[in-house]
Amino acid sequence: MNSVLAGLPTTVFEVMSRLARETGAINLGQGFPDDPGPADVRAMAADAVVNGWNQYPPMLGLPELRQAVADHYQHHQGLALDAESEVMITSGATEAIAGALLALIEPGDEVVLFQPMYDAYLPLVRRAGGVPRFVTLKPPHWRLSEEALAAAFSERTKVVLFNNPLNPSAVVYAREDLELLARFCERFDAIAICDEVWEHLVFDGRRHLPLMTLPGMRERCVKIGSAGKIFSLTGWKVGFVSAAPEILKVLAKAHQFLTFTTPPNLQSAVAYGLAKDDAYFEGMRRDFARSRDRFTEGLRSLGLAVLPSEGTYFINIDITPLGEEDDVAFCKRLVAERGVAAIPVSAFYHENPVRNVVRFCFAKKDATLDGALERLAGLGR
Ligand SMILES: Cc1ncc(COP(=O)(O)O)c(C=O)c1O
Repeated sequence: MNSVLAGLPTTVFEVMSRLARETGAINLGQGFPDDPGPADVRAMAADAVVNGWNQYPPMLGLPELRQAVADHYQHHQGLALDAESEVMITSGATEAIAGALLALIEPGDEVVLFQPMYDAYLPLVRRAGGVPRFVTLKPPHWRLSEEALAAAFSERTKVVLFNNPLNPSAVVYAREDLELLARFCERFDAIAICDEVWEHLVFDGRRHLPLMTLPGMRERCVKIGSAGKIFSLTGWKVGFVSAAPEILKVLAKAHQFLTFTTPPNLQSAVAYGLAKDDAYFEGMRRDFARSRDRFTEGLRSLGLAVLPSEGTYFINIDITPLGEEDDVAFCKRLVAERGVAAIPVSAFYHENPVRNVVRFCFAKKDATLDGALERLAGLGR
């Protein structure tokens, strides 16, 4: 058996979800919304299943969706992409990340990873033969620094895998941080795989800035998006990859033999959804920001130390003022004694973990959030 996969332990995510199921806890651990997603987009998918094409779609994705992705990014992010040669559809961002790593690295190449990181990254890098080099980000600002990047990059760096907005930290990186990263990518001739699945979930008037739009980065970025996150339809697994033609050609080879394609009916519904007007996207952000504020205020009124949430479905608390030093033990107790499941942020680190931060998903109905707050009453005192 392959040692990378066979050696993987049960993750804290699985442990927490199982505990939540067994104890009937309110699950604010896993990141999926209560909201069923836009009815018109779901109706388009249903119609496409009944009346549309259900055989293999083109390998790179439905032309109408590739064009919709290009138009969407032009409109929302000022990014000019050629739908024919620079856009590909995958089965979720996860496939896009796996394919990009398989396509871009040779065994022994170094890959810079930023911890906290999405749980799929490290096993996928290792399985592709990459050697991980870590940059450790720390609360409360989780900023990039020149020193940390200088320690992680080397002449052997081939790829950087960067998530912005960042899950679980809920930070949206500013131009300054991105410029710093871009300088390192250029200096070391590295390609950046940009996991931007949370690009539309940015709050308080912030704008998502794709690394690809920075000077010098257009030809060295693989930008990855996910319809699952944009439309609160996390089970759909429709991802988008954008890259310069020479890179995309190789990414397409990986995709060809990983999944080859993605359900055509979901692709047509996503093409429809991406063309929705600005009011839809603004309304979606406003609704999530409202849930974030409701939950933040609730946590604060319990005396808990809430870290800023600039984007994503997540909000974090610092457990140090509670006299807690171990986020995993804290979360296990929270689910057992309080009936609320959360995720210890140390689970997103491979080494030198931050142990004082706990993540909650606020993308839930008011009643769910209020129920959780009731159960947490007294925790902060
Ligand atoms: C940072 C990050 N990347 C990728 C994904 C997975 O995206 P998809 O469901 O489109 O594969 C997630 C889902 O939570 C995520 O948070």
